[in-house]
Amino acid sequence: MTFSDAEKAAIVSILGKASGKVSSLGAEALERMFLGFPQTKTYFNHFDLSHGSADMQRYGGKVLGALAEAAKHLDNLEGSLSKLSDLHAFNLRVDPGNFNLLSHSIQGVLASHFSTDFDANTHAVFDKFLAVVSHILTSKYR
Ligand code: HEM
Repeated sequence: MTFSDAEKAAIVSILGKASGKVSSLGAEALERMFLGFPQTKTYFNHFDLSHGSADMQRYGGKVLGALAEAAKHLDNLEGSLSKLSDLHAFNLRVDPGNFNLLSHSIQGVLASHFSTDFDANTHAVFDKFLAVVSHILTSKYR
């Protein structure tokens, strides 16, 4: 899957808006996921899942940080996400269906915080980006 220059610009731009607050936005995305889709909590038994907890901030920041890093390698996402792909497939064994749920939650957060920038076009492009990232992170399951 490739991205056009316009798509790349839209992805980098919206992640740039989020860059100063990845931990709080990421924590919010996790909170949305856990509230909307409680079955996702099974992977986080070892976390304090209360609102804004240190665990939520830390992991939320890692997820959005990983997306920001991936956005620097849009022509080689497989390579840049290879280690994370191994982790989710072999160590964590997260059921692939959960990636849609997290993607949906991340988009809810971006839409609510950056309503002007997260217009229909950016939404469509970011959805494609998250679908490609999720596909790669679940591609090693066997
Ligand atoms: C956009 C999709 C995702 C991205 C970019 C992502 C990113 C990451 C990153 C960067 C880490 C930390 C790796 C490290 O510390 O070396 C991680 C760990 C982890 N991920 Fe994901 N992840 C995604 C989806 C998911 C989903 C859908 C689940 C489960 C519902 C999940 C569950 C976990 C768990 C349980 C850990 C270990 C957390 C810990 O113990 O600190 N991830 N992920």
